[in-house]
Amino acid sequence: MLLGTIYSVGEVFEIMIKLKIGIVGCGAIGSSLARVITKDFSKQAELVALYDLNSSKPKILAKRIRKKNLVVFELGALILRSDLVIEAASSRCSWGIAKEVLSSGRDVMVMSVGGLIAKYSELTKLAKRHNCRVYIPSGAIAGIDALKAAKIGGVKKVTLTTLKNPLSFKGVKYIEERGIDLFKIKKDRVLFSGSAAEAVKLFPQNINVAAVLSLSGIGQDKTRVKIIASPKVNKNIHEIKVESQAGNIFTRTENILHPDNPKTSYLAVLSAIATLKQILEPIRIGT
Ligand SMILES: NC(=O)c1ccc[n+]([C@@H]2O[C@H](COP(=O)([O-])OP(=O)(O)OC[C@H]3O[C@@H](n4cnc5c(N)ncnc54)[C@H](O)[C@@H]3O)[C@@H](O)[C@H]2O)c1
Repeated sequence: MLLGTIYSVGEVFEIMIKLKIGIVGCGAIGSSLARVITKDFSKQAELVALYDLNSSKPKILAKRIRKKNLVVFELGALILRSDLVIEAASSRCSWGIAKEVLSSGRDVMVMSVGGLIAKYSELTKLAKRHNCRVYIPSGAIAGIDALKAAKIGGVKKVTLTTLKNPLSFKGVKYIEERGIDLFKIKKDRVLFSGSAAEAVKLFPQNINVAAVLSLSGIGQDKTRVKIIASPKVNKNIHEIKVESQAGNIFTRTENILHPDNPKTSYLAVLSAIATLKQILEPIRIGT
């Protein structure tokens, strides 16, 4: 008589091919992803570890999604358990995390793209050396698919105009240093106009879109960025204009804010989920 659980061939295959996922950063994005992985992707993926600098966050999240033994207290432990690490922490640490994950032979999805903007060639070399993949979701903008295709034929100009409510710039050092009183802005005010390279440094929490756009298009020095504080808007609005050999592209995304973090657009979370879906499913649609 056989003891223990008996699995069918199909079940054994399913168990074997589940992608083991670890999440670094258990805030708005990390928590949403954890819920989706355990609820909707449970056949193809398994959430194996949660890590956050604030150790109470993964504990609360693990309890909420009713999963035991997921909390780890250092990045190395999370990497050891995972096939894919999702970074949803901060642009200050995203390059360091990506480096450690790739060097350990694991794939990485990076949400804090601003931290990677100056590291593209190092990132590519590292991923190639360890035969790993780096996934960068489109985030809160539309048009990355078309831009990537247009780039093959030649792109002349890429411009991003971001409009946000003045209060969403609270705590940004650049604003504080200039003594700008965000409560007193009564009509559209251009806070910044320059290259994506500068924008990413000055608005690290708000400007991942500039980084994604630069990496998929003509680079951080040539991509132009304008940031406008607009008291009329209560959404994060991103307009993208591309001039290319294949024609002109214009997209405008009016983003609903994430309920747990008004600095994050809901679409950015959904974009990460869609990227994960693409990793897990056999058919890829879109450029
Ligand atoms: N790619 C995009 O389009 C896009 C869109 C929105 C947000 N983001 C970025 O994604 C990241 C997560 O966004 P969020 O809304 O979930 O933020 P959040 O502030 O809600 O959560 C971030 C979490 O990461 C933790 N953390 C910070 N530094 C860490 C470190 N070194 N190691 C481990 N944990 C750390 C924090 O304690 C916090 O719990 C941010 O960097 C944000 O800028 C990207």
